[in-house]
Amino acid sequence: MATAQIYPSLLAADFGRIADAALAVEGQADWLHVDVMDYHFVPNLAFAPDTVTALRAVTDTPLDCHLMIDDPDRWAAGYAERGAANVTIHAEAVSDLPRTTRAIRAAGARTGLAVKPNTPVEHYLDDLHRFDLLLLMTIEPGFGGQTFMTEVLPKIEAARRLLDARGLDLWLQIDGGVNAGTIERAAVAGVDVFVAGTAVFGAADPGQAVERLREQALR
Ligand code: DX5
Ligand code: ZN
Repeated sequence: MATAQIYPSLLAADFGRIADAALAVEGQADWLHVDVMDYHFVPNLAFAPDTVTALRAVTDTPLDCHLMIDDPDRWAAGYAERGAANVTIHAEAVSDLPRTTRAIRAAGARTGLAVKPNTPVEHYLDDLHRFDLLLLMTIEPGFGGQTFMTEVLPKIEAARRLLDARGLDLWLQIDGGVNAGTIERAAVAGVDVFVAGTAVFGAADPGQAVERLREQALR
C-alpha cells in the first residue's frame, strides 16, 4: 500500500513560537523537519543543537534534522545525541561518508543522504546502503517559499526505480515547494516522504494542512 508521510518544516514557523508550531501539528505530522544551516553551505542560518534539545522536551513527534552545513562529519552525530531521530547530511559536503553515517547510527539515529537538484544520485550508488532515507532537493537549498523544480521529477522517478531494482529499503523524501499543486505529481513519481514548510505553517490551520497534503498525495 502506498504511504505518504508529511514532515512540516519548522523553518516556515514563527521563530518566536517554535514550540507552539510543533504542537500545532502534533498528531498530524509524521515527523518534524528541522533545517540546520551555517551561512557557508547555504547563505542562511538556522537551528542549533540546543533547539533540538528544546524541541525534544516539548513534543514526542520524531525530529528529522536536515544538515545544510559544511563539515557535517564534525557536527552530524551531535544532532543525533540531542535526540534527532534522523540526521540527513548533504552528499556535496560530506568527506568521510562511512565514518559519519556510522557515528550517526551509533548515536541512535537513522540517517539520510541529501542531494541538491543538480547532483546525480548515481555518484553515490555504492553508498546508498548506508542510509535509511534519500532526500532529493526540489529547490536549491537555503530558503523556504521557493518554487518546486518540476525538472527534478524525472530524477525522482529514476531514483524510485533504482531503489526498487536494488532492493534498497530507503524512504524517498523531497524538500522544497511541496504544496497542494505539486504533491500529487511527486507522489506519482515515487516519493513517500514529503517535507512542507510554507504549505503547512503558512496555512490558517497547520494540522489540517498536513492532513490535506497527505490526502492529496494518496489520491
Ligand atoms: C530549504 C529547506 C526546506 C524549507 C522548505 O532549504 O531545506 O526544508 O523549509 O520550505 P518550503 O516548503 O516552503 O519550500
Ligand atoms: Zn529542509
